[in-house]
Amino acid sequence: MSELVLFEVQDGIATLTINRPDKLNALDLDVLSALHEAVHRLSEPGLRCAILTGAGKAFVAGADISQMRDLDVNGAREFAKRGHEVLANIEAAPIPVIAAVNGYALGGGTEIALACDFIHASAKARFGQPEVKLGVIPGFGGTQRLARRVGIGMARELVYSGKIIKADEALRIGLANAVHEPDALLGAVGELAREIGKMGPFAVAVSKRVMRDGEEKPLPEANALEIEGFAECFGTSDQTEGMSAFLDKREASFTGD
Ligand code: COA
Repeated sequence: MSELVLFEVQDGIATLTINRPDKLNALDLDVLSALHEAVHRLSEPGLRCAILTGAGKAFVAGADISQMRDLDVNGAREFAKRGHEVLANIEAAPIPVIAAVNGYALGGGTEIALACDFIHASAKARFGQPEVKLGVIPGFGGTQRLARRVGIGMARELVYSGKIIKADEALRIGLANAVHEPDALLGAVGELAREIGKMGPFAVAVSKRVMRDGEEKPLPEANALEIEGFAECFGTSDQTEGMSAFLDKREASFTGD
């Protein structure tokens, strides 16, 4: 497996670290392929939650500008499709993926973080969609996922101006859920991931699927997904175990079945 994305597992928690620190983890095709492979591994049995972060001082400083500069229209379309494919796979992963944004998350960096389930940031994190400064627009979902997360008005302001915002502003607008001291980021996110990992795995997976699929649907259709997902849980041993453990006043021991 490529060293461009490190994949470590501890106690059912996978940590994916984008590892091209000399270029601030800029996304070239090799990094995207390594990420694709790593994200594929999130379907391995026994995993409960994942953390996506960056090596060094950046999370991801964007798509690789040196690789993009000479693209023609068709090449750019293929590059954007590749990025979208990898990010859609993060969204579709069967376990929650938390973005631990340790530093610069610009362009493709903000876009990858948005493809994760939610974002925790270091106080040193910086977010933005600076593509217009380069004469292009976001190509890995920034024009769409950002608006869905922070609202269309704020997303327009960020995309049209290319401005970079600090972690506390990201928190204020709802882009990040929490801001941590830089040294505390991975510890705090790891603790949260382990808390999620203790919950019924089948229920967490169904929650993720229903919330993701429902986001784009009118409320009655989205609620219908919830009804089906809720019912599905009652065919599992996790449901029997979770409810029995509550009634027996003991810790549940889930298997994910
Ligand atoms: N693509 C390609 N290379 C990148 C990159 C990117 N998106 N972002 C950073 N790098 C490279 C730099 O070219 C530099 O390489 P070098 O050492 O071979 O010269 C290295 O990473 C370190 O970056 P540097 O600019 O020296 O770090 P800095 O701390 O001075 O500045 C940033 C950090 C993030 C402000 C600056 O790198 C930047 O603006 N990057 C581009 C951000 C961007 O526009 N992203 C959207 C792309 S669509």
